[in-house]
Amino acid sequence: MTTKVIMDVDTGTDDAIAIMASVLSPEIDLIGITTVNGNCPVEICTENSLRVVDYIKANVPVYEGCALPLSATLTPGRKPNIPSYEPNKIHGAYLDLPEAKSSKGNINAVEYLIHSYLESDGDISLVPVGPLTNVALAIRQAPEILDKIPEIVIMGGGHHVNNCTSSAEFNIWVDPEAARIVMNCGRPIRLVTLDATHEALFTMNTCEKLRDIGTPASICAASFAEHRINAYDQIQPMESGASAPIHDALAVCSIINPDVVSTVFAHVDVETIGELTDGRTVVDIDRSGDRGRKPPNVHVALHADGDLFVDMMLDILSNKL
Ligand code: BDR
Ligand code: CA
Repeated sequence: MTTKVIMDVDTGTDDAIAIMASVLSPEIDLIGITTVNGNCPVEICTENSLRVVDYIKANVPVYEGCALPLSATLTPGRKPNIPSYEPNKIHGAYLDLPEAKSSKGNINAVEYLIHSYLESDGDISLVPVGPLTNVALAIRQAPEILDKIPEIVIMGGGHHVNNCTSSAEFNIWVDPEAARIVMNCGRPIRLVTLDATHEALFTMNTCEKLRDIGTPASICAASFAEHRINAYDQIQPMESGASAPIHDALAVCSIINPDVVSTVFAHVDVETIGELTDGRTVVDIDRSGDRGRKPPNVHVALHADGDLFVDMMLDILSNKL
């Protein structure tokens, strides 16, 4: 069975690998990509996404979305790194791929999302793997799209594991209000958290195997993953050493084979006013919130099968168009 997908990305090395996996998986029909401010300013995320689709000769339209979070930057001092941007070690700025020849679509990402869902048969999974600004705006502007979204598979959040502050994961931290709107939208949501992605690591051995496969996508993924491993070793070393999560690709793999993650169904909301906890995904694991009166709304992936993930990625990235 093939699942139609729209990805909302902030490309980014792991977004790039995730896009390639979506395009090359026979189980996924990637019909469109929307971009959002996150790992890089949105225009760089757009160019990077176009570079990736051009590089693997995919015919997938790319639409540019929001350059800033909904409201988080309006409170002085709340988001010190946005919008003033310095390339970080994990992603750099422009991906090391030839400049894009194709161009972004001529409507905004939010318009594209609304139009695509309203025109659809209700069969397009939405896969946001960056801050949730575009998705929240689309929901606010046209709530009737919700009936047409069968599932939202988000890479974001963390329970025991976080990476931006001690409480928050990057995608949620950048735009907590947007994340709160999406988390409470009432549609089926799978949240692939850092707890899971940190159990699904590429090692240098994975990269060697990818290089041996020798397809354009596998060679490119090897080089981005090596870059990530070196950066993670310096700034956020994994316990097992010399390895790195490929967060966004795990979200994609969870569509192809849900067994690659294990989930709990729990109430999840997003902290938007905490001084120390801004952007935290608050997961009511033991249903203690309001003495169990908060109904579960999110399937939260807290673990991953790392071996299965790597096998799936080696398999998918050996495909060519
Ligand atoms: C998430 O943040 C970004 O840096 C990655 O692309 C991923 O989507 C991980 O916290
Ligand atoms: Ca991302």
